[in-house]
This record gives sequence, structure tokens and C-alpha cells, in this order.
Amino acid sequence: MTEPELDVHREPADTAAALREDVRYGFSAAQKWLPAKWFYDARGSELFEQITKLPEYYPTRAEREILAREADEIARVTGAPTLVELGSGSSEKTRLLLDGLRSSGTLKTFVPLDVSASALEEAVTAIRADYPGLDVRGVVGDFTEHLGLLPGGPPRLVVFLGGTIGNFLPAERSKFLRSVRDVLTEGEWLLLGTDLVKDPDTLMRAYDDAAGVTAQFDLNMLRVVNELLGADFDLSRFTHESYWDADNEWIEMRLRAREEMTVRIPGADLTVRFADGEYIRTEISAKFRAAGIAAELAESGFAVQRWWTDEQNRFGVSLARATEDEVIE
Ligand code: AVJ
Repeated sequence: MTEPELDVHREPADTAAALREDVRYGFSAAQKWLPAKWFYDARGSELFEQITKLPEYYPTRAEREILAREADEIARVTGAPTLVELGSGSSEKTRLLLDGLRSSGTLKTFVPLDVSASALEEAVTAIRADYPGLDVRGVVGDFTEHLGLLPGGPPRLVVFLGGTIGNFLPAERSKFLRSVRDVLTEGEWLLLGTDLVKDPDTLMRAYDDAAGVTAQFDLNMLRVVNELLGADFDLSRFTHESYWDADNEWIEMRLRAREEMTVRIPGADLTVRFADGEYIRTEISAKFRAAGIAAELAESGFAVQRWWTDEQNRFGVSLARATEDEVIE
């Protein structure tokens, strides 16, 4: 099989440079943290695929249930010729939407965008094989930076699934929604998947499974730092934890130092000290309520047209339309 050609807006050298910035910034904060996007090298993307199949990790199944039920309705309402998927990963759930849009006869172009070139290559190859005639334009990039470069004709349907929007802090979240709105024209569409607030036990277990796959996924971030920046993190000296922050209504993933240590990160010109029990925050995964989502979307220039949840009310999908640009007089 030939390698699919991808639009690469991110080269390996930029990746290391971007990680270097994030490491220098995040490790000099009082509470050490790194952005969740650094989980997703080839190994991390593979581990995430495994997570989606775990009994404790319900979001993927709950979202798939909604998309399977509503794909035809989404196609009917939007009539979109272009489907843009942000953070596409394996694009597996997206097939439900591709099927819906294809059978309604409108679909011409599919634009998956992901930071992981390996995950994207696999997805693009598989989708080209299964959807002959579909124009598939894979874009390697960071959806926080490369939104302006997306190809395809309007009215585009931009989908952001899996609850990944929950990885942003609230301020970044509204900035992100605004930036999506800014590359769209009035009447284009956003389909957004959001995990919902529920009992803490279910949430904590979804992010700390019995088989330890999520722990490996979390620790993989340190391996990425070792690989890209020549750091000497010893993964066996950190423990994975999930934590429910009830005030902020988000899950945190944390890597806690089992002992005091010093870590060298030559690629960031940095030496980092950890106290015994100190932790790195590697992810926040915010959980939402219907009213909150509608309000945030409205503030960002979108009007929710449809709202669906799974049978058990665990996960929500909203379909929103870009509203008229605000005119300031
Ligand atoms: C892919 C970002 C939606 O936040 O639930 C899974 C990532 N982290 N288990 C999530 C994840 C731990 C996932 N998202």
C-alpha cells in the first residue's frame, strides 16, 4: 500500500520546538502541568484506541450510539458537501457520519485533521479504500493553530467528537470555539461531542481502569518528552491517578512522583526537581451540562439546533449553526 499524501502543517522539528515551549512553561509553574495533546504520538494514539474499548470508558460507546441513531438526521439538516473532523484519530465513529452524508448524496470532501501523522495516515488510507470517489484531504496539524487552512466547500460541517473539547480550560475553550466560528461563514455547521456530568465514581473509573491501560497512556507522555527532548524521566517512579474536581466539574489525570527526584530535559535546557508526592497535571477532561454548552456556543457565535444524548444520558452531541456576524455600530 502506498503512503497517503497528507498536508503537513507540522514537521517533526516544529513538534519538538512546540513541546520544548510547553515543557518550559508548564514545568516552571507552581503546579506542574503539560498539555494533553502530548499523549498522542503513535504509541499514545494506539493506547487511546485501546482505552475506547475498555469496559470503564463509556464515552466512545455512548457517542457512537448517538451518531448511529442521528447520522441521517445530521445529513438531512446540514446537507453538507464537506465534512471536516478536528482531532480525527482513527476516524472510526466518523464513518457513521460519512455513511449518512453519502446516502443523502451531498458529500464530496472529507478533511480529517490530527496532530498524529501515524494515526492520520492509517485513517486516510482506510477511508479512501472504503469510500471510493470521496476526496479525502488529511491535514497533519494542531487544531488550536491550523484552522484557517482547512480545504473544502461550504456549507461545511465541522465535527469535534469524543469530548475532546473538555481538554481545554474554560478560557481556552471559548477562544477555540471563537476561532472555529471565525473560519466559518454564517450558516455553516459545528457538531460537538461533550461528556456529561455524572456520579464521580463512574467518572473516576473511566480515567483509571482496572487493566491499567489509562495509566500506560498517561505515562506515555513522559516517554514522549524523553524521546523528543532527550529527557531522563524514569516512568516507574511515577504513578497515574484520576481526580474529580467537583467545583470545576472536570476530571484531572495526574502523574505523581513516588519519591523525590531530579529530571534532566536537555532539549528544553531544563532540570526539574520533584518533591516526593508532587504531581504533574497531564489532562483536564471537563464534563458538561446541556444548558452550559448552549450558552458557551451562543457566546461564540453558534446557535444550537439539535441536542441529543445516549439512552443513559452519559454523553451529549449538539449540532449548532454559525450565526450572523455581530455588527458593531
Ligand atoms: C480523547 C480527550 C476525549 O478526555 O476522555 C481518555 C482522552 N484521557 N482517557 C478524554 C482520555 C484519558 C479523552 N479525549
